Amino acid sequence: MSDVLAVSDLRAGYGATVVLEDLSLNLAERATLAVLGRNGVGKTTLLATLMGHTTHHAGKIVFRGRELSGLPAYERARLGIGYVPQAREIFPSLSVEENLTVAERPGRWTLQRVYDILPRLAERRSHMGNQISGGEQQMLAIGRALMGNPTLLLMDEPLEGLAPIIVESIIEVVRRLIREDSLTLVLVEQSAKRALEMTEQAIVLDRGRISYAGASAVLLKDPERLANLFVAH
Ligand SMILES: Nc1ncnc2c1ncn2[C@@H]1O[C@H](COP(=O)(O)OP(=O)(O)OP(=O)(O)O)[C@@H](O)[C@H]1O
Ligand SMILES: [Mg+2]
Repeated sequence: MSDVLAVSDLRAGYGATVVLEDLSLNLAERATLAVLGRNGVGKTTLLATLMGHTTHHAGKIVFRGRELSGLPAYERARLGIGYVPQAREIFPSLSVEENLTVAERPGRWTLQRVYDILPRLAERRSHMGNQISGGEQQMLAIGRALMGNPTLLLMDEPLEGLAPIIVESIIEVVRRLIREDSLTLVLVEQSAKRALEMTEQAIVLDRGRISYAGASAVLLKDPERLANLFVAH
């Protein structure tokens, strides 16, 4: 089976500044990848680059057989890449419901299904994007990504600061998406333990390069090695 995502020799950054170097990775359907590393090593830049929000200097990003470089973010979304950005990027002057429906692509995920799993959003449906709490904005960013019915979901610290009960329900939703919808997941998460428990594969970044690529379980079982990968070299 061909890969959902094949990244080869990627170099990308912001204008002339290069943040990611020589980065290659392959993800099959239903793969789950944790992206770990210290603050500022390039985790957000990697996800933003897959979505087309940074300067692409070299290398290839192939999504379901299609080369993405040069395609704007909305085209990538239309092809089936969902993105929960670290800076939630909710439209402030649209209602919660409008924020969800603008992102709608046909598929299993509908407004009703999103409201079923995130009932808080249903309660806030007519509030404006700038009239909801940080946690609600986070739920909205997740709901909006689901409305696009993605086959590849990029999540940048989606659980940050959420109440434990909401975290549990979102983890359950993500697990169900992988199992039932053949979703492929790339997850950035500050809690390495949680990210490793939710995924089968992991990469650790160090100053824009991959310093570990392998099974999540290996790092989960070897806290010393994991800690060492987080030390500045
Ligand atoms: N818009 C930008 N313009 C220029 N440089 C940037 C920009 N955004 C991030 N950087 C730089 O790129 C590098 C990687 O940042 P990035 O946000 O990808 O890190 P991160 O691993 O997501 O960190 P964190 O864990 O704090 O979210 C950092 O040196 C950062 O200062
Ligand atoms: Mg980040």
